[in-house]
Order: sequence, then structure tokens, then C-alpha cells
Amino acid sequence: MNFRQISAVERTATMFPLQAYAFTPSPWPAEDEEANSRRMKFFESAVSLVAEEDGRALAAVAAFRMRQNVRGRAHDMAGVASVSSHPSARRRGLVRELLNRLLRQMRDEGCAVSVLYPFRAGFYARFGFVGIPRHRTASFAPDGLDHLLRAELPGEVAWLPMSEGFDDWDGLQRRHLLAHRHGFAVFDDVRSAEFRDGKYWVAVARSGGEVVGAVRYRINRFGGELVADHLLYASPLGRALLLQFFARHVDQVSRVVVKVSTDEVPELWGTDIQVITEGKVERPSDGGPMVRVLDMESLGGTAVGPGAITIEIPGDELVGGVWRLESAEGALSVRKESEGTPAAATLSVGGFSALLYGVLDPVEVVTRGLGEVWPEAVATLTAMFPREMPYLVADF
Ligand SMILES: CC(C)(COP(=O)(O)OP(=O)(O)OC[C@H]1O[C@@H](n2cnc3c(N)ncnc32)[C@H](O)[C@@H]1OP(=O)(O)O)[C@@H](O)C(=O)NCCC(=O)NCCS
Repeated sequence: MNFRQISAVERTATMFPLQAYAFTPSPWPAEDEEANSRRMKFFESAVSLVAEEDGRALAAVAAFRMRQNVRGRAHDMAGVASVSSHPSARRRGLVRELLNRLLRQMRDEGCAVSVLYPFRAGFYARFGFVGIPRHRTASFAPDGLDHLLRAELPGEVAWLPMSEGFDDWDGLQRRHLLAHRHGFAVFDDVRSAEFRDGKYWVAVARSGGEVVGAVRYRINRFGGELVADHLLYASPLGRALLLQFFARHVDQVSRVVVKVSTDEVPELWGTDIQVITEGKVERPSDGGPMVRVLDMESLGGTAVGPGAITIEIPGDELVGGVWRLESAEGALSVRKESEGTPAAATLSVGGFSALLYGVLDPVEVVTRGLGEVWPEAVATLTAMFPREMPYLVADF
């Protein structure tokens, strides 16, 4: 078996058949291959690895070069995707070998963390990944926002095709949300360039010359639905301006459907609003995202609560060992200790990642089977890594 990194151009002949078979209706029309080949310029910075036998690709994995905010610090992040193997080559450990190689390579190239969307969380839990929240979807009739129809808000909303609104929509994410929103992630310029051609409208909210909100959306028919992607905003005013824009579709669509973070409370958007807010996680196509740490030392400087603790992460090639974690005026310092140094908690990579990302508290880490924590260490870990739900918008 030959394992190697391939170029974007090589993806069409090697990875495309595996991916098309795994993820799309099949057999697929011949033109799909040409369409895939045209898209490959957007994959030039991705790291793509294949396992080949007799010159034929049997399994593949890839990682997009991304950036993600983790508790206030933006890190290089590996967005794992395109994981697939030939049906006759499954359960031979090929994907395991490829994934281990990919994570090691991305760590060596500077990625502190990694994110993926699983077909089945249990499969990736073996590789140290742990779940974070999937977005919620709010669905409501626009008359629930009646009060905004004539409200005088200090700002305006521009309505643009994506080709014209892309820079504002992308800039809000890159400049504001990546810097300020825990969990927020963006692709590099190479991959995100494809979204400029997306068949979407973009509503861009501005106040005082600044972009304070943006949402991309489509309308399916007159009297139908306005189906929006994530409601992105830099301030409550940005959100109010975008909701006002939705309200103005009251005689045009019967419902607005929009993606929101887990801390959004749409029933508070209006007095008489009737809204259904749903979070759906289902196998294999709507998996909740998963994360893991790839490099401990890169986490220095992360904003944490007060405290100091020694933890052990056993048996992981990338982050295994005994680690001293200390908060100095709210900034984390990370130091490797010699093997055998007593630790107050033994955590799997997933257990530590869950604490870092603020999705589980130490007791849940134990009850989920992700580690063991001495009773006196529970309070320290709770204080250092308080609950804080990440908001991941990038989908891949
Ligand atoms: C999922 C898929 C990539 C697994 O590939 P594979 O080549 O069979 O994986 P491996 O043989 O390397 O398996 C690695 C480990 O996971 C286990 N595993 C494989 N498929 C699994 C599944 N569906 N559920 C749980 N464990 C699974 C294997 O037994 C193996 O365990 P081990 O490390 O203890 O030996 C492959 O079945 C596939 O292409 N499926 C369709 C596309 C897909 O779902 N891709 C994932 C998108 S996120």
C-alpha cells in the first residue's frame, strides 16, 4: 500500500470516484467529473492524502487550511473532510492510517486544533474528537416581527447578489467574528473564493459606515420560504437590522427559516412571534461537528479562569503526556512535565478538548467516560475552563 499526498489536479482522477460514490446519488452523470475538475482550483491549498494499491486510490482524506477562535485566540485549524474508502477496501484500517498521517502533518504544519463533521461520531471519537453543538434553525412567519416594520434604526441594509455582497459578508466573518466569537472558523482565501459565485442574495447591515450584520439567503417562491444561512452580526443592532429586513418580506413569503447559534433565543425577537427553533443531529448526513486539540503548547495565552492543575493525557501521539496548566492573570500557560509526575486528572484527548472548548464540565467528562478527575480537581477545572458554547458556522 502506498500512502501519498496528491495535488488538487490529481483529486479528480483519484478522490472524486470515492467521494462521489460515498456522498452523491450514483451512478453519477459524466459531466459531474468535469464539474469537479473545474472546482479544483479552490482546493489547491487543501492537504489531500490517498492510499493507493497498484496505482488505484482505495481511500482518501483531506484537510482544509482554516482558522478558528478558541476562547478568544485564533488558531490555525485543520478542517477534515473528504473521508472515504472504496467499498471493497473498507475495514482494512486504510482510513485510520490516512487520518493519523493527516492529523500529524497538519499539527507539524502549525495547526493547533482540528474540526470535522462526522457521519458517525463514535468513529471519530476513536481519533480523539469530541462533539460541539450543531447550529439551531429558527422558522417563523415574518409577521412575528411586525414591530420592526416601521422602527427607525440607526443603520441600513443593502440587498445584493452574492457576487457583490461577498466582500462584506466574508469580511464580517474574517475580521470580526473570527476575532470575537468562540468557536467561529473561516476557510483560507483559496477555498472561500468559491463562495463568491454562490447563487445567494446577501443582506448587508451597516451602521456608521461599518458592516454590523450579514446574512445570505434564497427565496424559493412567492408565498413560500425565505431560506437563510447563518444570521451573522457584530452587535444587537446588526441583528435588529437583519430581522427588520426579514420583516419587510411579510407579504412575499409565508416563513423565514434561518440558522442561529445555540445561545440565540428567537422567541424573544418579538411579542407575538410564533417560532420553532430546532437543533437536529442525525446520522449520517447531519452530524454535530467534532473538535480535537492537535498541539498543547500552541494553547498558551488562551483566556481561562483562575487556577493551576497538572493533567495527564495518556496514549496520544500528538498531545499525550503530563501537562502543567496554569492561569496567569487569565492567560493559560502550558508546560510539559516529565513522565510519572502526579496528575490531578487523567483525560482523554476528547475529554481535554471538551473542557477547552467549553462544552462539557469535568463531571460530564467523567460520566461520558472521557477521563478521571480527582474530586478536589473538579472545582479547579470548572473554574479554569468555564462553560462557553462554541458557534461553528463553516460547513465542510
Ligand atoms: C467510514 C469509512 C470512511 C471508514 O473507512 P474504513 O476504511 O472502513 O476505515 P478503517 O478500516 O480505517 O477503520 C478504522 C476503525 O474504525 C472502525 N470503523 C469503520 N467503520 C466504522 C463505523 N461505521 N462505525 C464504527 N467504527 C467503524 C474500524 O473497525 C476500525 O477500527 P480499529 O481502529 O479498532 O481497527 C468508509 O466506510 C466509507 O467510506 N464510508 C462512506 C463514506 C463516509 O461515511 N465517510 C465519512 C464521512 S465523515
